[in-house]
Amino acid sequence: MNEKSKPIGLFDSGIGGLTVARRVMEIMPQENTLYFGDSAHVPYGSKSTETVRHYTKQAVGFLEKKDVKLIIIACNTASAVALEYASSIASVPVIGVIEPGALGAVAATTSQRIGVIGTEGTVRSEAYKDAITEMNTGATVTSMACPLLVGFSEEGLVDHPATDLIIHDYLDPLLAQSIDTMIMGCTHYPILEPALARVTGDSVQLIDPGRETAQFVFDTLCSQDLLNDSETPPFHLYFLSDFPHKFVEVGERFLGRKMSHVEKISLESLREVK
Ligand code: DGL
Repeated sequence: MNEKSKPIGLFDSGIGGLTVARRVMEIMPQENTLYFGDSAHVPYGSKSTETVRHYTKQAVGFLEKKDVKLIIIACNTASAVALEYASSIASVPVIGVIEPGALGAVAATTSQRIGVIGTEGTVRSEAYKDAITEMNTGATVTSMACPLLVGFSEEGLVDHPATDLIIHDYLDPLLAQSIDTMIMGCTHYPILEPALARVTGDSVQLIDPGRETAQFVFDTLCSQDLLNDSETPPFHLYFLSDFPHKFVEVGERFLGRKMSHVEKISLESLREVK
């Protein structure tokens, strides 16, 4: 396979990264993709940095063995705590979602008051805050962990009074800081964008790091002349470390299209990759 037609590898703790894969397919419809969801070890958001790094190492090894041309760490938590480590062990470029998401927020804000929502791990790491303040030293960043929103998005509760109630509870402290921009810093949250927008109102711009990352990857591949220019229809392959009930049903909703090739790999084979 020539370099350009090699797939883009995507990695997430499970199903959520399919919202990032969706943006990749929208922005680069000709690219082949290979998705690895570590569904046997999800959630990453509540795990220690050491554990998330360990799983990230296995995932990177798996994707490299599949001969991808670039790796996207679609998971915000893994991007927050393991991107540097992943880049140091991989022989292909590794791109996380934090920097593109932060860039999008810095470009969008006019009041320099930015909100970030994510998992416990992402918020605790302060990765978004650090990235934003490095780009814009005058910005004020207020962050909030919203762990329950993962379940609400998987259940598809976009138009449910309980969703608005819990979002209010999480976001009221951010809105009290008069933010004008908010990063949806978890792979699942873009599914709840209409509900989040209902609570934040029109004055707050919502940033989807998945969309920003897909654009960033497009620009990167373009500048390196690595975009797939083959006329053959692209393939999209999905590998999981466990096959949870309803994976395909929920996954297709997150991805916005049918999933054809879904394969479970054994945990032993994952441990074996170096
Ligand atoms: N994919 C994770 C993230 O974006 C959310 C799910 C989890 O906690 O593993 O942070």
